[in-house]
Amino acid sequence: MKNQILNQKIEYLDQLMELLKIPSVSADPKYDHAIKKTADWIDKSLNEIGCDHVKIYETAGHPVVYGEKIINKNAPTVLVYGHYDVQPPDPEELWKSPPFEPVIKKTPLHPNGAIFARGACDDKGQMFMHIKAVELLIKNNALNCNVKFVIEGEEEIGSDNLEQFITDHKNKLTSDIIIISDTGIHSMDKPAITTGLRGLSYMEVTLTGPNRDLHSGLYGGTVGNPINILCGMIASLHDEDKKVNIPGFYDKVVEISKAERQKMNINATPEKEFQKSIAINASVGEKGYTTLERKSIRPTLDVNGIWGGYTGEGAKTVIPSKAHAKISMRLVPNQNWEEISELFNKHFRNIAPKGVDVKVKTHHGGDAYITPDGNKAYKAAEIAYQEVFGVIPHAKRDGGSIPIVPMFEKILGCKTILMGFGLDSDAIHSPNEHYGLDNFFKGIETISRFYKHFSKVNIT
Ligand code: BES
Ligand code: MN
Ligand code: MN
Repeated sequence: MKNQILNQKIEYLDQLMELLKIPSVSADPKYDHAIKKTADWIDKSLNEIGCDHVKIYETAGHPVVYGEKIINKNAPTVLVYGHYDVQPPDPEELWKSPPFEPVIKKTPLHPNGAIFARGACDDKGQMFMHIKAVELLIKNNALNCNVKFVIEGEEEIGSDNLEQFITDHKNKLTSDIIIISDTGIHSMDKPAITTGLRGLSYMEVTLTGPNRDLHSGLYGGTVGNPINILCGMIASLHDEDKKVNIPGFYDKVVEISKAERQKMNINATPEKEFQKSIAINASVGEKGYTTLERKSIRPTLDVNGIWGGYTGEGAKTVIPSKAHAKISMRLVPNQNWEEISELFNKHFRNIAPKGVDVKVKTHHGGDAYITPDGNKAYKAAEIAYQEVFGVIPHAKRDGGSIPIVPMFEKILGCKTILMGFGLDSDAIHSPNEHYGLDNFFKGIETISRFYKHFSKVNIT
């Protein structure tokens, strides 16, 4: 029996390694062939575990893979969402092993090993746990819920075409609950269920000064330098308390009660430990809020990238014609991402001085979301985590975004439970992304138990 379980674990890991080898980067068209290959791989995987009506649905962007296992019309139905696309691997030189050649290594936080590859945690590893959990249940004749899988390929670029897919297939996707593993737990000793996601509004700005790059000796001191100006404009977007300095930005933000804030801070990582984990000597953020609050219940604004002028080897004396920046805002419940994008747009154009032309483009966005923490699905998840991790999971609000979650509620009228298993230190979106083997196997176990408890008529 023990050997059988071990063999099974090795088989699952081998399969995950195979999946991680396909470079399904959604942001860059040069990987389109890999996107297609990954969709085919998921399609095959869903077929192999015994799903029906497995199909790759083309969209205006990358395809969605669907599959279902309907066991009984009267049984509860669970919709599993996940994404097979990954973030670009750059900067590649900072990876200790190549991003699409998965290897297993031990780390202090993963003494039993972690699998290193782009997408290991976000989200191939976590999405794949669902396929394997359902496989196990089907094999053991223990699946008591209907299951529908929706695995998409555009999450990391804003899920632009998934809304259309959900709208087109509304009836087919009807379910009692949506479960997603694309978030994290606090630690292996302190599991958590995510009950909140932040929204996002992603902008790009371009400043144009003179119609061509200029010799900085001949022209320096006579024209507005777009990069100098852009830096000043960006600097003005925060006040001295690190509040976002855009009129109306906080208007719809609902303040959270002192009691609730106190409760959430019980589970906070000690400040020194947080700083040490990313090698900084001071935390910086909005005055009056703790680090935990700043990264979960407060809206923020950050520059993600800034470029222009000469950035090559050596020196070049030049005043650039253009300056660019990508700027994103994390949003909290009640803020509407389209409204915030518009506020940003207006304000940014307003503060531009004479001498430059400003263009503002909205890339993509999504609203924040709060999931229920008292319904049957939450309770089923709570018991499942408790059984596998040995402690009751706490509810936590996360700072990241999954824009499709509020969209699911809007279109399907269905709530989501975020059953994540990653750690903040797993370096998602960074070089050396990894996912603990314990997290992977405990995740599969927790998900299987979720189905068992969710299918019960009464749980308290
Ligand atoms: N899985 C993440 C979101 C996440 C991670 C939420 C950890 C909570 C905890 C997802 O793949 C992601 O990266 N989302 C993007 C948004 C998207 C529109 C690009 C994000 O949050 O930046
Ligand atoms: Mn993800
Ligand atoms: Mn991601």
